[in-house]
Amino acid sequence: MDLHDFQDVAENYDRYLEAMYATDDHHEHFQEFYLNLARQYGAGGVVDVACGTGAVLLYLAERGVEIDGTDLSAEMCRLAAAKAEAMGLKLRIIPADMTAFSSGRKYSLAIIARSGFMHLPTQELQEKALRNLREQLLPGGILTLNTFDPWPPIQAQQMRTTPEDYTFRLEYVNSAGNREKIYNAITYDPYSQQMYGNWKFVEYGAGGEVISERIRPLRMRQTTRWEMFLLARLCGFEVTDIYRGYNGDKEDLNDISTASRYRENLIWILKRKD
Ligand SMILES: C[S@@+](CC[C@H](N)C(=O)[O-])C[C@H]1O[C@@H](n2cnc3c(N)ncnc32)[C@H](O)[C@@H]1O
Repeated sequence: MDLHDFQDVAENYDRYLEAMYATDDHHEHFQEFYLNLARQYGAGGVVDVACGTGAVLLYLAERGVEIDGTDLSAEMCRLAAAKAEAMGLKLRIIPADMTAFSSGRKYSLAIIARSGFMHLPTQELQEKALRNLREQLLPGGILTLNTFDPWPPIQAQQMRTTPEDYTFRLEYVNSAGNREKIYNAITYDPYSQQMYGNWKFVEYGAGGEVISERIRPLRMRQTTRWEMFLLARLCGFEVTDIYRGYNGDKEDLNDISTASRYRENLIWILKRKD
C-alpha cells in the first residue's frame, strides 16, 4: 500500500492539496497547460494516466476533450468517477497500473500529470511503464510526464531524516469537517534514488483533542534529466521538448548549463518513434 491507496487519503486529497499549494505552488496553471497540449496533440484521443481524483481529466473533459482516465488506486478512481458523474460527464476511468494499463484503444496523447511518474519506485518499473504506454499510443503519439530535478541540498537533509522524524507540513479541514495536521518524515537513499517515509495525519475534535492519528507510507523515485533522456531513447521515444513549469518556458535541449536549477519542475514531451 502506498499513500494514495488509502481511502482516507483519497477522500482528503483535493482538500489538503489546496492547502499545500496555497503556500508552495509548483503547479499553478497546470490544467490550462494540459488543455493546450490536448489541443495540440490530442486529436486522436487522450488518456490521463495516474489521474488521481481527476484534476486534469475532468478539466479537459469539461472543455470537450475526448479523454479516458486511469489510476493504480481504486480509491482515487472511485472519487474521480463520482466527481465526473456529479458534473454530468460520462467517462471511462479504469483502475490499472501504468506498467500494464490497456483500454483496448490507442491515443494520440498520454498525460502523466503532477508527479505520477515519480511514484514508480525503480528504474525497471519506469522502463516497463514507458514501454507499455508507448504501446497505447498511435504512431507519432505523445507522452508527457514531469520530473523534479533532484536537488542535492534537499537530499542531504533527507538523508539525515529517519522515517519517524516528523516535520509539520500543513493544516487543513478534512472530509469529516475536522481540523487535521499533516506531518511528514521522508528520507532519501542516494543509491536507489528513492525518497521514502511516512505521512502522519493527526485529526482534532471540536475541543482540540486528538481523535485519530494515521500513518501512511510514501515511496517515490528521483530521476535525473540525463537518465530521462536515456530512458526515453531506450523505450522508443524522442524528447521533443522540455517545459520548465507550466508557463510555457522551454529548456534548451542542447544547453546542459541550464541543468539542475533549484527544484525545477520539468515537463517532458516524448514522441513515440516508429
Ligand atoms: C501525486 S498524485 C497525482 C494525481 C493527478 N495526476 C493530479 O494531478 O492530481 C499521483 C497518482 O499516481 C498514482 N499512481 C502511483 N503509482 C501508479 C502506477 N504504478 N500506475 C498508475 N497510477 C499510479 C497514485 O495512485 C496517485 O493517484
